[in-house]
Amino acid sequence: MTDHYRLAIIGHPVGHSMSPLMHALAAKRNGLALTYDKIDTLPGQVGETVARLRDEGYHGFNVTVPHKIEVMEYLDHISEEAKLIGAVNTVVIGQDGRLTGYNTDAYGFVAPLKKTAGFDPEGKSVFMYGAGGAARAVAVGLLAAQVASLTIANRTVARAQELKERLVTHYRAATITAIGFDDKNLVESVGGADIIVNTSSVGLGGQTGSLPGEDEIKGGLVVDIVYQPLETKLLIKANALGAATLDGLWMLIHQGDRAFNIWTGKNFPIEEVRSALLARLRQETASSPSGE
Ligand code: ATR
Repeated sequence: MTDHYRLAIIGHPVGHSMSPLMHALAAKRNGLALTYDKIDTLPGQVGETVARLRDEGYHGFNVTVPHKIEVMEYLDHISEEAKLIGAVNTVVIGQDGRLTGYNTDAYGFVAPLKKTAGFDPEGKSVFMYGAGGAARAVAVGLLAAQVASLTIANRTVARAQELKERLVTHYRAATITAIGFDDKNLVESVGGADIIVNTSSVGLGGQTGSLPGEDEIKGGLVVDIVYQPLETKLLIKANALGAATLDGLWMLIHQGDRAFNIWTGKNFPIEEVRSALLARLRQETASSPSGE
């Protein structure tokens, strides 16, 4: 067993990343020695940073925006799931210096559905807003969990269609549909869904914009992957309309839990990590009146 884990996160910016806090707490509770550095890496410098981490004896690192795709060029092996998602957020550096990439976002999304909301996705119908990077991981997680249908609704319909094309060849059992925000079937799809997910950046930073069809929520489970603010407009509305809700902090915590498990074989103390992150978010909101 490793006696001191050297880990890091690379991204730009990484100043506000909550990963160091989560991993330090988990290491402490598991009796492991760990250092977890934030390494601000500009686009174009990813290869250099990865080589440095390998040469300096790091055990692995997380990858965040905007490098989750670019980092794939510098890895020796990539998990099938990460290939399908088209992005890597967790890298293991082996003792031989080989780099293996994983994506823990799909697990991060699906795990709390079951564990926290008591919702089993198998056989369910999903309505998902957004078709960007986060949407790819969420869709792969849900399709792997055997949902019956997935409607992808995106402002730019061509991106929803591209995502659908990417997924249909792999997941033949589910009915996958791509629509634009002005599609005449959107309202009906929202109303008929067992689970509604927002993966778009609408609501991020407390923006006032709303999502089409959000007034048609008829219950079920509504999940927002945005966690700043924790209570997005969508979740507040969903609550008022009688739906169960899950906020975006759950996905953040569980993707971290999976990464920690890949590196150390141990798990996060989930509730304790959540309390620590809630305290951090409250602190940040208090020190910035606009909540930014
Ligand atoms: P991420 O990696 O966080 O998913 P992304 O790949 O840039 O980021 O995707 C952002 C998503 O939010 C996209 O689905 C985007 O829609 P477009 O493809 O039409 O750009 C969506 N999005 C961002 N701002 C939006 C807005 N104001 N209204 C609706 N959708 C928005």
